[in-house]
Amino acid sequence: MANVIILGSQWGDEGKGKIVDLFSERFDIVARYQGGHNAGHTVFIGDRKFVLKLIPSGILRPGKQAVIGNGLVIDPGALLSEIDALQSLGVAVKDNLSISNRAHVLFPVHRMMERMSEGRPGRVSLGTTSRGIGPCYEDKIARRGIRIGDLLNRDGFRAQYDSLMEEKAIIARSLGIYEELDFAAIRDEYERFADCIRPMVCDTAFLLNEAIAGGKTVLFEGAQGGMLDIDHGTYPFVTSSNATAGGACTGTGVAPTRISGVIGVSKAYITRVGGGPFPTEAPGAEGESIRKRGNEFGAVTGRPRRCGWFDAPLLRYTAAINGFDSIVITKLDVLDEFERIPVCVAYRRGGREVTAMPATVTEMEQMEPVFEWAPGWKESTFGIDSYDALPARAKDYLAFLESRTGVEAGCISTGPERNQTIVRTGSRLEKLVGPAR
Ligand code: GDP
Ligand code: IMO
Ligand code: MG
Repeated sequence: MANVIILGSQWGDEGKGKIVDLFSERFDIVARYQGGHNAGHTVFIGDRKFVLKLIPSGILRPGKQAVIGNGLVIDPGALLSEIDALQSLGVAVKDNLSISNRAHVLFPVHRMMERMSEGRPGRVSLGTTSRGIGPCYEDKIARRGIRIGDLLNRDGFRAQYDSLMEEKAIIARSLGIYEELDFAAIRDEYERFADCIRPMVCDTAFLLNEAIAGGKTVLFEGAQGGMLDIDHGTYPFVTSSNATAGGACTGTGVAPTRISGVIGVSKAYITRVGGGPFPTEAPGAEGESIRKRGNEFGAVTGRPRRCGWFDAPLLRYTAAINGFDSIVITKLDVLDEFERIPVCVAYRRGGREVTAMPATVTEMEQMEPVFEWAPGWKESTFGIDSYDALPARAKDYLAFLESRTGVEAGCISTGPERNQTIVRTGSRLEKLVGPAR
């Protein structure tokens, strides 16, 4: 049994898509467990570029099965556009994708509610992706949401939909929103969507557990990152789901006893999109230089990502919350030209070292990062695929990160393409993901 979770260990965009695509070769099934089309995972195969939002990156491997678990919120229009775009690039999505009948359906009204709350005067905007993700999860938790299974049940769906929209119209009016949505036309459209996705919908928890019992292996793909987790992240500047490892169980219906390991993906530095505290942010020329070299612009919204330096206390925290067996360090090549590279090794507040991650934004904003400087290697690591071929100072940098986080760097990524990766021989990561097939 080797069922493994791969998730982001920072604030998202760590390069999970590339890493999941790379290792999906070694598993039978790849399953997404939370989030929605707020995620944007860019994968290069040769010079072909794929951007995945709802569909697990494993879909790009012919013959692999991809699963969208119950923990997701699905905008069926966005899903169908993604399927069409991939099919037109020659990816056989419809034959290999299964969608949970327990996942929740996202409607245009969720985007409307989000615009209202993000834009309300006096409210601190979170800087969301504006996809309606939060309001859809709100309906799920309030037990008034509509699930994929409900959408497929034509008779029941009409009544459920009309009742939900009636409630939304009352809320909108009471908040002074008079944005017109043609609820009846949207309902008809969603009924057409239902017919398109029907052949792919099933009880994916049953599918996954049967597959595992039959000896198949599953790679669980997290979206977002540990610091965007609704419970453990920098609340309220988080997304509305459990991006952390526990979410893989609740978001797919596979028990913790069936999972053998957890791998975190981290950049060699750190980025964040949207609002919220960011202790190691480098807002000046250095941040700009990382953004340029790393092409740090959001895959979903195109927003420039905020850039900063590797934050070891943050990684120690996400390693503890998720139980990382190993981490993957991506985008090492982006640091090639720096003379010296700051790494945050501790946080201080009021002159005292802070050992636990503060729970509130106010406390987090008061934190002063303590930096140490690693010497840069000043030569190209782009595309290097063997550990021995890395410059000595790049190896020292990786060893420094390992010593400050307490987690092995079992894999290093030196470019966006599959081959531009080093899997370290004898690492825990190598044992967990098993041999290349
Ligand atoms: P995800 O959301 O975690 O899947 O990450 P994104 O796809 O949003 O952002 C990561 C970006 O970095 C993508 O454009 C990748 O193609 C790219 N990328 C991934 N690994 C590397 C790497 O090691 N070096 C460089 N230069 N780019 C990388
Ligand atoms: P991937 O999977 C980076 C951020 C948004 C915002 C906050 C809440 O590509 O790593 P939401 O729309 O989810 O309610 O927004 O979360 N966010 C991400 N940031 N990568 C992502 O996904 C993100 N998904 C959401 O920018 O700050
Ligand atoms: Mg992304």
